[in-house]
Amino acid sequence: MKLINLTGRFYVSLAITLLVSSMALAHEGKTHKKQLADTLKAVNNTAAVPTIKKSVWGEDYFPNSTLITQDGEKVKFFDDLIKDKVVAINFIFTSCVDSCPLETARMREVSKILGDRVGKDIYFYSVSIDPEVDTPEVLKAYKEKFKIGDNWTFLTGDKADIIDIRKKLGLYLEYLKTGEEEDLASHNLNLIIGNQSTGRWMKSSPFENPYVLASQLGDWLHNWKTVAKTRNSYANAPTLRQLAPGEKLFRTRCSSCHKFGEESVGPDLLAVTDNRDHAWLKRWLKEPDKMLQEKDPLAVELFNQYKISMPNMRLTEQDVEDIISYMALETKRLDL
Ligand code: HEC
Repeated sequence: MKLINLTGRFYVSLAITLLVSSMALAHEGKTHKKQLADTLKAVNNTAAVPTIKKSVWGEDYFPNSTLITQDGEKVKFFDDLIKDKVVAINFIFTSCVDSCPLETARMREVSKILGDRVGKDIYFYSVSIDPEVDTPEVLKAYKEKFKIGDNWTFLTGDKADIIDIRKKLGLYLEYLKTGEEEDLASHNLNLIIGNQSTGRWMKSSPFENPYVLASQLGDWLHNWKTVAKTRNSYANAPTLRQLAPGEKLFRTRCSSCHKFGEESVGPDLLAVTDNRDHAWLKRWLKEPDKMLQEKDPLAVELFNQYKISMPNMRLTEQDVEDIISYMALETKRLDL
């Protein structure tokens, strides 16, 4: 939309510039009628330009290397995965404990919002940047832990090929390399969404609101051809209430993995504030990774059940207190 507006404005200002200069010429005694006619013709011709061109980033640009899916199936990057498709591609490694589970969980939320369009007109791919460890079997197990369905493909392959793909997508930053081996943990912006045929690509933060990401994928990259049937009118919007600080934090940091009253990627949090000791809960929210390292019995038991480690989100004391009071409040609200 922005692009079209800007283009429109550009043509208007071009027309004015040309008109003004033709008027100036007229003052110099040139045959100004002809001049004006030529100017208008030029403006009309230029104004006809804006059409959506075919992407410049086609098969000559993207590699067509072979990748392997979580089921061991061989696929070609350009021909099978991105050609003429709207896609979301992120790069992960399954042994990553903090940013990747957060990203995967957030993408999972986006895929839930998009529903059955995923795998039909919007394609989700997660590519491992640690292919020696992430074999198809490891990727398959990872998908299962996150309860991700068949419509989202996890891929591994040759390390050099994957680096090449990241470079072409603009997601490989040379300066993040530490010595010979790339520092896996420092890969930060890993999600790119785009439409190969129109050549629109954008890097996106996986921590973005999932509804915003879903709308970029579902509407914007499809040129608004397929506006969701479930779209609500603003007239039906509920009146906004003030969010408590803990609720806001919970929505941005926790809700992609936790719900109240049902299991998600992580355990159901209904009544967790009643069932767990307050000091334990406080420490758990602050440093779940340390508690697991120290083999805290409850932490170990939970990890064995869920197999995904809850990330350390570097919350402050105040954040932790706010979140705990929100969890207690939400339990009360739902238990009524
Ligand atoms: C990437 C997913 C993920 C995110 C994000 C996440 N958690 Fe967890 N959480 C888990 C998993 C998985 C467990 C189970 C323990 C384990 O495997 O480490 C867990 C366990 C818990 C528990 C213990 C439940 C029990 O029965 O005692 C609490 C409480 C909790 N999380 C709260 C939070 C809060 C609050 C946030 C946000 C600040 C959060 N979690 C963010 C995945 C996540």
